[in-house]
Amino acid sequence: MQNGNHTQSLVLIKPDALKNSATGYIFSILSEFNTGLYFAGMKVVNVTEMLAAEHYAEHKEKAFYPSLLEYITGKTHFPEQPQKQKVIAIVYQGPNAVQKIRDLAGPTNPNNAREQKPGCIRSLGAVVPVKNAEGAVIDQRIDNLIHASATDCEAEREIKLWFKPNEIPTALKSFQTQISERSFYLKDGKLITEYNSGSTPIIAAGDIVWKSDLDILDQLISGQTPSGTLELVAAKYLLNRE
Ligand code: CDP
Ligand code: MG
Repeated sequence: MQNGNHTQSLVLIKPDALKNSATGYIFSILSEFNTGLYFAGMKVVNVTEMLAAEHYAEHKEKAFYPSLLEYITGKTHFPEQPQKQKVIAIVYQGPNAVQKIRDLAGPTNPNNAREQKPGCIRSLGAVVPVKNAEGAVIDQRIDNLIHASATDCEAEREIKLWFKPNEIPTALKSFQTQISERSFYLKDGKLITEYNSGSTPIIAAGDIVWKSDLDILDQLISGQTPSGTLELVAAKYLLNRE
């Protein structure tokens, strides 16, 4: 549950916005003075394939999907500059956060945005043809400056996907947390609870975690059908590591 009508929403400043120095502009439009919304969390993220794939899981079967992953991981706009391959992830909170930000972002497709809502953030975006190996246009990639959660339910999933609980101040945490009683590691894409050489620690005993994440890890370890994927839980623990 979110806090009354003070809901949270996940915003990503996407690589095209960073390339065009639109960050300050977007922050101004979404400022507390204009929207009544305030920051609950913020970070700079080099987006991994795992995080991108989980974030856009609903689009997996679409023709534009591979191009979308290239875009959100920064490879499209900064192919030769790995240090610039990043997004800024922000949790905004306040009255009707999700709807307010979607309204200011505008329609997904910038061509529609320009027609239907001139001045909205996405009216500054671009539509780029996606071609197959033979050069035929098979779809379009939409560079639209920001991601904004579309529903409260999507916001909860996305905030838990991008942020660990301790990256959000205690008074601003909106989702249930729990202290993990054991440690968890990844080894060769598998979840284990004992450290051994070559395994990557993701959670230490005593760490605070989202309760829904801990449920998934416990289900995986005990062989039950998990309520989500390992990647859904693990992606945020593997960010900015190397
Ligand atoms: O972002 P939003 O929720 O408004 O739209 P979506 O339909 O969930 O699509 C997610 C993202 O995929 C969009 O924001 C676009 O960046 C991208 N997209 C694309 O590249 N090509 C399309 N034909 C549709 C969406
Ligand atoms: Mg969407």
